[in-house]
Amino acid sequence: MPVLIAVPGNEDHAHGLGQRLGYPVIVPEVRRFPDGELYVRIGGTHALRGDAVLVGNLDSDNFLRVAFLAGAARDLGATRVGLVAPYLAYMRQDSRFQPGEGVTATYFGRLVSSVVDWLVTVDPHLHRLASLAEVYAIPTTIARAAPEIARWVAAEVERPVLVGPDAESVQWVSAVAERCGAPFVILEKTRRGDRDVSISAPDVGLAQGGRTPVLIDDIVSTGRTMIEATRQLRAAGSAPPICVAIHAVFADALSATLIDAGAHRIVTCDTIAHVTNQIRVADPLAVAVREQLG
Ligand code: R5P
Repeated sequence: MPVLIAVPGNEDHAHGLGQRLGYPVIVPEVRRFPDGELYVRIGGTHALRGDAVLVGNLDSDNFLRVAFLAGAARDLGATRVGLVAPYLAYMRQDSRFQPGEGVTATYFGRLVSSVVDWLVTVDPHLHRLASLAEVYAIPTTIARAAPEIARWVAAEVERPVLVGPDAESVQWVSAVAERCGAPFVILEKTRRGDRDVSISAPDVGLAQGGRTPVLIDDIVSTGRTMIEATRQLRAAGSAPPICVAIHAVFADALSATLIDAGAHRIVTCDTIAHVTNQIRVADPLAVAVREQLG
């Protein structure tokens, strides 16, 4: 039987998957030596057979943890090591915009592909890339958050109108709209820098007239996109929007500013642990893991 191995900080995801899939969960020992180097030990078993599935997000620190745990799992006998990373990091720099820039999405994809045999993630930031196969050399399965978000919207919001803050968001917004039978509008965003975006709302008629706007985006990073979209909606006379994001990066911890800008509420999926998590993605992740394990 496959085993799930929780990368530190991702125990909830590992246990959620363990319950759904009926696989045991191992919580490994991971600590630092006094010099800062990592120590890993997969205890509680003398041998692994078949599949081991690491469960953990891949921020910079965790990449090494995942690489070392994958090595330890193989040394214990695992013949295939998969990775469930609910939020897939390093997808933003998917192109070279200035001479000399590193295309880190490609380099990171190569690194991850060299340590695990397959990858499952939730709605990765595919913008200019058509698929993960352009940067990952291993089999990948994408779990979709849209059905879970649609269920949440249908249960929690009366007369919703869905709003995407930019052209890319149409993929998530239209998928949610289709499932919960709500109308949607897409705004226009111009990004001038990491923390400098402007949004125009040329046609927000649907966001008025007694409907509750639900802003949906894949990532809240600095929060600027959600803040500007909220301001534009409010300026156009809409009700305070509910802001929904799949991945709660919150690099600038801006949830209070978002409320100040006029948002009614902020709700996120639990791909990254955050106080705004309300929507679980364990079910679609479990389906995707089953697909990889065959
Ligand atoms: C854009 O490409 C993404 O879909 C998000 O809109 C973006 O990552 C949000 O970033 P921020 O919160 O920094 O505006």
